Amino acid sequence: MSATRRVAIVTGGAGGIGRAIAARLQRDGLRVALWDLDARAAREAAAALPDGTAIGVHADVTDEASVAAALRTTLDRFGALHVLINGAGTTGPIAPVAECALDVWQRCIDVNLRSVFLCSRAAVAPMLAAGFGRIVNLASIAGKEGNPSMSAYSAAKAGVIAFTKSMGKELALTPVRVNCIAPAVIETPLLQQMTPDALAASLAKIPMQRPGTADEVANLAAWLASDECSFSCGATFDLSGGRATY
Ligand SMILES: NC(=O)c1ccc[n+]([C@@H]2O[C@H](COP(=O)([O-])OP(=O)(O)OC[C@H]3O[C@@H](n4cnc5c(N)ncnc54)[C@H](O)[C@@H]3O)[C@@H](O)[C@H]2O)c1
Repeated sequence: MSATRRVAIVTGGAGGIGRAIAARLQRDGLRVALWDLDARAAREAAAALPDGTAIGVHADVTDEASVAAALRTTLDRFGALHVLINGAGTTGPIAPVAECALDVWQRCIDVNLRSVFLCSRAAVAPMLAAGFGRIVNLASIAGKEGNPSMSAYSAAKAGVIAFTKSMGKELALTPVRVNCIAPAVIETPLLQQMTPDALAASLAKIPMQRPGTADEVANLAAWLASDECSFSCGATFDLSGGRATY
């Protein structure tokens, strides 16, 4: 199948980064299913794209049955699956470990990590059937460095990085490539979940002295979702304005 008839799922498709990636993939010729907990926002984001190229789908990516239902809706509409962007996420509790409530900590792990397992697991069979697959996970530099007072988020994103390495190797001899992106601060609504102090501390660590844009994430994601990404699997791609040094 030519690249222009491929089908992508973008989880967190109503969010800042997900929306930008969905728009970029659509411009590259893919048909896109925007999955989000906020179904109305997902449908609005899909409606902003040219007719017939995108759908908004309600999905709670922490829930196995919801993921299965959203996949059915996507396959019923577009007939195949080639690309999965795991973009749904939340910063979770911004508090010292000693003050973190278990349920809030666990929810952050579920939204950021369990979701990647559930969606990736569901995507493998249709990708193998299609003879092409690209899974792109949104990790974070927090998963490499550990942001203070963001233990759940940092641990979940470290889990996403390790999950990517494992699954990328596991599928290395198939046509499915699995990689992840580790952004530093990107200008999206997610930043409203951070305290001003935590945000200022993160921004201060960026040598380029600015946050990244969602379009800059979309540029890298589009390459990772394409045929051109042919010799990378299980890799973590930094997008940090110079902050990441390893
Ligand atoms: N913005 C940043 O600075 C930054 C930096 C590093 C990594 N990231 C990661 O990039 C990804 C996208 O972030 P963003 O900045 O676009 O955030 P955002 O808050 O703008 O969007 C996140 C989206 O995920 C959706 N979502 C949350 N829980 C969900 C669930 N259970 N099921 C389905 N959808 C759910 C939300 O409704 C929202 O639309 C996240 O994984 C985030 O951790 C962001």
